[in-house]
Amino acid sequence: MSDDNTRWGRRRLLTGGGLAAGAALTGAGLLAGRQEQPPAAASVSEAAVGEATAAFHGPHQAGVATPPQAHAVFLALDLRRGTDRQGLARMMRLLCDDAARLTQGRAALADTEPELAGRPARLTVTFGFGPDLFAKLDLGGSPVRQLPKFGIDRLQTRWCGGDVLVQICSDDPVTVTHSQRMLVKDARAFTTVRWLQRGFRRAAGADPAAMTQRNLLGQVDGTIQPADDVHDRALWVSDGPGWLHGGTTVVVRRIRAELETWDAVDRGGKELTIGRRLDTGAPLTGGGEHDPADYAAVDGLGLPVISQFAHIRRAHVADPARRILRRPYNYDDGLTADGTPDTGLVFAAYQADIARQYLPVQQALAESDLLNEWTTPIGSAVFAIPPGCRPGGYVGQQLLDRT
Ligand code: HEM
Repeated sequence: MSDDNTRWGRRRLLTGGGLAAGAALTGAGLLAGRQEQPPAAASVSEAAVGEATAAFHGPHQAGVATPPQAHAVFLALDLRRGTDRQGLARMMRLLCDDAARLTQGRAALADTEPELAGRPARLTVTFGFGPDLFAKLDLGGSPVRQLPKFGIDRLQTRWCGGDVLVQICSDDPVTVTHSQRMLVKDARAFTTVRWLQRGFRRAAGADPAAMTQRNLLGQVDGTIQPADDVHDRALWVSDGPGWLHGGTTVVVRRIRAELETWDAVDRGGKELTIGRRLDTGAPLTGGGEHDPADYAAVDGLGLPVISQFAHIRRAHVADPARRILRRPYNYDDGLTADGTPDTGLVFAAYQADIARQYLPVQQALAESDLLNEWTTPIGSAVFAIPPGCRPGGYVGQQLLDRT
């Protein structure tokens, strides 16, 4: 899987929806014979969803630049007392062997339900290392540190921290759960489970091609990302410790959304809060979804068309090479007795450098963002995502095999 094939901007230009991109990733020529028509999600056969694969091996780990699959599990593990560097290396070797097989639709070694492995549906497994791991195993300084506490945070320990991240994404929820089970089994001797967060987006093929997904607040979410020409610079680490070159970092925030009170706001209020239209996702200053917002525009009264406190103005980073790559998933933890939904976002953001790219945005949003009225961060974790590995190797090998 080349980087180019997985780049979202390019995906949009070339193919549209995630499913079409998934089919393209297989190289299976599923759309052969229909080349005169632009590939539309609805035209891809059902079999294509299940059989589509994303490569596990490569210079970068899959699951970061990969167009987001419909289902995700973010699993944070803590080292068991007694697991040393060699132990972690053994675990990573095992888990990477599982991931290499499962992502290609093959059963894991000693897979107890091998038949479930046959539908990878663009399965990716991505591994990360949390800050505490470096101190615990004497691995040198951590390239990532937990975010500072923000005034808007109401963090719950059960959604925070973690030594090792296992991120499992697929267009099929059964594949995610089966893969999770296989990986956890092999991790059990070395680690305990700290937290697990499930997320979802629209089913593969449910959205028309070329459409940005919507979150549960009804907003088009994911429009502004690092620009294609600077995508690699924004995303992949190229300085600092050598073992992380070609890797990245991730911030996983669990953000509760108050849908009941959000629903009490009228359309105008909802659009003012973000600075974009609900129907098209276009900036309030006009044009289409992908046209730039005009932050200088004022209305007849001389007031800014996009409020000083609108989410997009507060989050906007002018330099496209310093933008974060957002890959958010919805979560839905059910209902309270009175029917209030326990929902929100598992907000995952990837960037070469958290301090330089993520933190300033988060600080600006924490200071004043109209959206804060309806959203509350309840979980926070950061991980260094090592580069990908070659067949026979494992993720993190350059770090863990050092003497
Ligand atoms: C529940 C929480 C959140 C919701 C519902 C939400 C929703 C949105 C929506 C609808 C947009 C406009 C469309 C787009 O460009 O994708 C947007 C833009 C953006 N959001 Fe959020 N967001 C949330 C949290 C965050 C957080 C925690 C961050 C980072 C710390 C963030 C960073 C951004 C950035 C960088 C943009 C693009 C700004 C620009 O136009 O340049 N968002 N968000």
